[in-house]
Formats: sequence, C-alpha cells, structure tokens
Amino acid sequence: MKDQLAKIRAEALAAIGATDAAAALDAVRVKYLGKKGELTALLKQTGKLPPEERPAVGQLANEVRSALSDAIAAQNKKLAEAALDLKLAAETVDVTIPGEKAPLGHKHPITKVIDEITDIFVGMGFNVAEGPEVELAAYNFTKLNTEEGHPGREWTDTFYITPGKDDPKNDAVLLRSQTSPMQIRTMESRKPPIRIVAPGRVYRKDEADATHSPMFHQIEGMVVDKGITMADLKGTLNEVVKSLYGEDAQTRFRPHHFPFTEPSCEVDVQCFACHGKGCSVCKGEGWIEVLGAGMIHPKVLEGCNIDTDVYSGWAFGMGVERLAMMRYGINNLKLCFENDVRFLEQF
Ligand code: PHE
Repeated sequence: MKDQLAKIRAEALAAIGATDAAAALDAVRVKYLGKKGELTALLKQTGKLPPEERPAVGQLANEVRSALSDAIAAQNKKLAEAALDLKLAAETVDVTIPGEKAPLGHKHPITKVIDEITDIFVGMGFNVAEGPEVELAAYNFTKLNTEEGHPGREWTDTFYITPGKDDPKNDAVLLRSQTSPMQIRTMESRKPPIRIVAPGRVYRKDEADATHSPMFHQIEGMVVDKGITMADLKGTLNEVVKSLYGEDAQTRFRPHHFPFTEPSCEVDVQCFACHGKGCSVCKGEGWIEVLGAGMIHPKVLEGCNIDTDVYSGWAFGMGVERLAMMRYGINNLKLCFENDVRFLEQF
C-alpha cells in the first residue's frame, strides 16, 4: 500500500505539473482527490490493513494528500499568473503608436466661402441675419421698390407657391429670388445704426448648366446710419476683397441699375488668374463680376419708416457660387450640388 501511495503521489504530481489550464488542473484534482478519486479509494482500504500498519500508512496517506493539495494550489496560482500575463500582453497599449484618424466630414466649399465672408464682416462689426426662403411678394419685390411689370416678378422668372388673393402684388407667396428682402425685414425689426450680412439660398427659374442653377446662394450686406455715403460702400467692399484675394486685389465699380438702390453699381474684381490681362477664367475680360450694390433708395428707407433726412445707407448682394468657383477653380457649378464625395473631399 505504501508503494501504491508513492506511485499515486508521483503520477499525480507529474499530472499537476503538466496542466496548462484551470479546467485541466481541476480534472486532475478530481481524479486523485475527488470522492471517487484514486487516493480517496485507497484511503478507504486502510481499514483492511493489519492494525499495526494503519498509523504509518494513514500518516503517509495524509502527507500525500496534503502534498497533492499544495501542488494543486501552487499550480493554480502559476496558471492564474500565466493567464494574467497573457491577458496583459494582449491588451498592451503602445502609447507611442500614432492614433487612428476617424473619418471626419468637412464643410462644403459653398459653406466655406459663406463662413469666410461672414467672418470678415463680423470682424468689421456686422451682425449676421437670417430670414425665410419662402417669402411674400411684398418683401421680395414691392417694398424693394420693384413694381408690377418688372421682369423679375413674372412667373417665368420666379417660383410662385401661391398666387395671392386679396392683394396678389403683396400677398403672393414665392421662393425668394434674392436675399434683398432681408434689407426690409431688418429695417422693419430694428432701428439704425444697422450693420448686417444675410447669407442664404435664393431661387430663380434658370435652366441648370455650368454656371446656372435654379437654387444658389447670396450674401446680402447692408449698412444704415447717419452720414453713410457711397465712399463707405467702396471702402468696405475694397477691404473685403483684399481680405479675400490679397492686398494687391483690385476692384472696379461700374454704374448699373437696381430698383432698390440709387445710385447703383456692379462691382468687379480684377481676375486673380491673369491680373487683368484676360484669360479663360475671366473669359478674356480681365475682370470678374462679383456683386451688385448701391445706396438704398429713399423710397425703400421711407417705406421702413427710416427718416431719410437723418439716415442713409448702402446695400450689396453677392453671388456665393461664383466666388467659390473662382476660389477653388471649380469649372462646373453642377459639381457643387451633386454631392459626390470624390469632389467634396478635395476642399
Ligand atoms: N439683389 C440684387 C440681385 O440679386 C443684388 C443687390 C443687392 C443689388 C443689394 C443692390 C443692393 O441681383
């Protein structure tokens, strides 16, 4: 029986040492020390031994049992440590590896130009105003001194939503064809001094092609204060053009006509590509038209209860798409609205 005990001890210790996982170790424990285990079975037989042999065998059996228990506990600890080491190694974070960049979206080129220009004006003390794209004829036309018979009022030019009932000239509902209604909305809702820019979408019944779209963006600008003159308009716009295109950027003011400004002008920027010589970008002109402007017509100011003996003002409206196309060398306006990421990701 002593030999059997020695054999069990040797076998069990070898088996314990060979385990590589907690489950395997437990199986070995059950095999030797469990209720039906080999050592347990042997111990049950000690009763059959002659009485004088029992104490020695019993003592040996207990030694074997505690040796195995100790070995199991030690192996258990070893396996747990190994498992932890493995886990730590697997979860190691190398803080020196450059991070993975999450794919971030970014601003549309039109939005970038709007942000850039409004930022320049905000820096000059202007507020940003926003107003409805679905507008009343009164604001898009009548209050802007644009009477019936003006071509812009025709249904062929402007998107009407409802024709208007009691007073069609004013209560017809349409998609604004310009941001200029924001001049009226601003003057009706606050007192001078007024300095605002109002960026937004406008709609016209234009066939879509490389330079036209039935929806495009404008930025309206307006100043109303005491003693405002055309010189202020020129000075402001020259500063803006320099901020956008550099210190040596040139502007040209040409006489023009708008119903709601008097005098009116159109403003060109000298072509940034050829510096006035004429090239494909400016279609040989040397200059690129960027906006319409003028001194706000006294009729418009008075319609908004602004005393023209005290106050005067100027306004401009610039087309954003043209600026964006110039700025980024975009040769077809349609690209701006197709939302193909291969195009958009270039800006
Ligand atoms: N609203 C005019 C347009 O769309 C531009 C403009 C704005 C002209 C303000 C003068 C003053 O053509």
